[in-house]
Amino acid sequence: MKILVTGGCGFIGTNLSVFLKKKGFKVHTLDNLSKNGSFYNFQALKSNKIKNFKIDISNFKKIQRLPKFDIIIDCCAEAAVEISRKDIDKVINTNLTGTVNILKKAKKDKSKIIFLSSSRVYSIEEINKLTGNNKNLIKTITLKKKINEEFVTSKPKSIYGLTKHASEMFIQEFSYAFGLKYIINRVGVVAGPLQFGKVDQGFVSLWVWCHLNKKSLNYIGYGGHGNQIRDVLHILDLCELIEKQIKKLSKKNNLIFTAGGSTKSYTSIKNLSKICEKITRNKIKILKKPKTSIYDIPYYISDNTKISKIYDWKPKRDIKNIVLDTFNWLKLDKTKLKKYF
Ligand SMILES: NC(=O)c1ccc[n+]([C@@H]2O[C@H](COP(=O)([O-])OP(=O)(O)OC[C@H]3O[C@@H](n4cnc5c(N)ncnc54)[C@H](O)[C@@H]3O)[C@@H](O)[C@H]2O)c1
Repeated sequence: MKILVTGGCGFIGTNLSVFLKKKGFKVHTLDNLSKNGSFYNFQALKSNKIKNFKIDISNFKKIQRLPKFDIIIDCCAEAAVEISRKDIDKVINTNLTGTVNILKKAKKDKSKIIFLSSSRVYSIEEINKLTGNNKNLIKTITLKKKINEEFVTSKPKSIYGLTKHASEMFIQEFSYAFGLKYIINRVGVVAGPLQFGKVDQGFVSLWVWCHLNKKSLNYIGYGGHGNQIRDVLHILDLCELIEKQIKKLSKKNNLIFTAGGSTKSYTSIKNLSKICEKITRNKIKILKKPKTSIYDIPYYISDNTKISKIYDWKPKRDIKNIVLDTFNWLKLDKTKLKKYF
């Protein structure tokens, strides 16, 4: 089976491509290497004999000349939420036009699609309501409602979230009009090795990197106490899930799921600091920046009920496993990695 992974030199793309290659699939990637860190990951692909097409996903002329694939796994995005209101064109060209280009190619070749969507398709206002619209989270929030596929998507969700939601709608439209078969995974935070974290994308690896290198950090938003809660899915749990989805794709398709670390793997930012301190044995300075961004959310825990039932899947690794695996990777290549963080 021939598979194309778009955004294949990114964090999820590289891990997934190498994982699937080792499972015996024929894997190619598409990535323009624009992200800081993608060139490092590209070396990992090369050493696993995976060919990358260095193409901009917004360039349909080049995409249509690619060979035919049985499955396209779309992992290509400008995935930083805050950047999405600063560089609107880039986000729309990569995330929305890019996915539509992939859909046109899939339509022609009758390829199936697995789309990496995001928990960010859900309404910010409705998520804020779960914690009583409290903008000063002095205490860590106790677990509230888990968020499933039925949660509100109709209200503002960030421009990033909008491009993911609009892409989902294009996928469904192509399915209705042209018979395209798809799976959409709305994933929460994913983390692990080969992630080059920034404040608003990949905060777990950023946290481990800063602890390892004794660099200071900030608790941003909600009073600056670090009490926001996120579930975090280990990249290997995601890879194992997608392998199951590929194997069942002919029978189980045209489905939308939420998928995440859920109650198996979640943390407040403050607790993440404690785990990092324990594993790296370094304590760093963390400053308070109380002001909350309009795009921040206080809480997110995925409800995996639907996806667990269909694929007999649930996350096996927790936040401590994630921090430890990320730490071991960062430590191993510390000097080489300095220029990417
Ligand atoms: N990492 C997470 O926590 C997370 C959570 C939810 C959803 N997602 C989704 O999963 C997918 C993968 O995320 P990631 O964390 O691996 O992101 P990433 O930023 O690490 O990888 C994205 C890759 O896309 C490439 N790229 C960017 N613009 C491009 C363009 N115009 N043409 C070709 N390549 C381009 C980059 O070079 C990079 O290698 C994205 O669609 C993202 O929205 C990620």
